[in-house]
Amino acid sequence: MKVTLWATLSANGNYSRSTPENPPRPQAFQDFERHARVAGNFIVGRSTFEGFAARGPNPAFASLDIVVVSTNSPAIEGVHVVSSPSEALELLEQRGYTSALLSGGEKLHNAFLAQGLVDELVLNHTPVIEGAGLNIHLPAGKHQVGELLEMIDLGGGVVQTRYSIKR
Ligand SMILES: NC(=O)c1ccc[n+]([C@@H]2O[C@H](COP(=O)([O-])OP(=O)(O)OC[C@H]3O[C@@H](n4cnc5c(N)ncnc54)[C@H](OP(=O)(O)O)[C@@H]3O)[C@@H](O)[C@H]2O)c1
Repeated sequence: MKVTLWATLSANGNYSRSTPENPPRPQAFQDFERHARVAGNFIVGRSTFEGFAARGPNPAFASLDIVVVSTNSPAIEGVHVVSSPSEALELLEQRGYTSALLSGGEKLHNAFLAQGLVDELVLNHTPVIEGAGLNIHLPAGKHQVGELLEMIDLGGGVVQTRYSIKR
């Protein structure tokens, strides 16, 4: 299973927070929708999923397999709820997928990175500077070198880089 970690970063390197006052750039969110359409699925942490759900139904997500990772969430209508990253990948494998899109948030991205479950990073760099915030990282002391595969100007000041990393 090829796992692609998709994330938006601020110009000062934070893992961007999205709030009602500072929503994601439309160019970045449209790119997420494109990636999700191609994958047919996405995996999301319980908190980020609640943020998506609060915005109301998104027709772009209607036909996707959405996998919510939570240690204790009850079943949620219309999505699959699993209790770990490996369970999320097993579920998608059983449903016939060969690739999975990992949409965040910070805790879930870092859990996948810590477990060596990521093959590709798609990073959207935005012209926004934040105060001290979130970041994606490997466990302390770990170091990994990736390979730059692509750089794309998404418009609206958003530049996307794509890296492969070895598991
Ligand atoms: N920059 C970006 O691209 C991007 C993308 C998405 C979100 N975000 C931002 O990220 C922030 C939310 O991130 P977050 O870290 O608070 O939340 P999150 O990762 O979306 O969700 C955290 C929850 O997911 C579950 N979870 C995470 N890792 C798990 C694991 N290994 N095993 C089992 N369950 C696990 C747990 O749910 P339970 O508590 O139910 O057990 C945990 O409390 C927001 O500020 C949002 O705007 C940014």
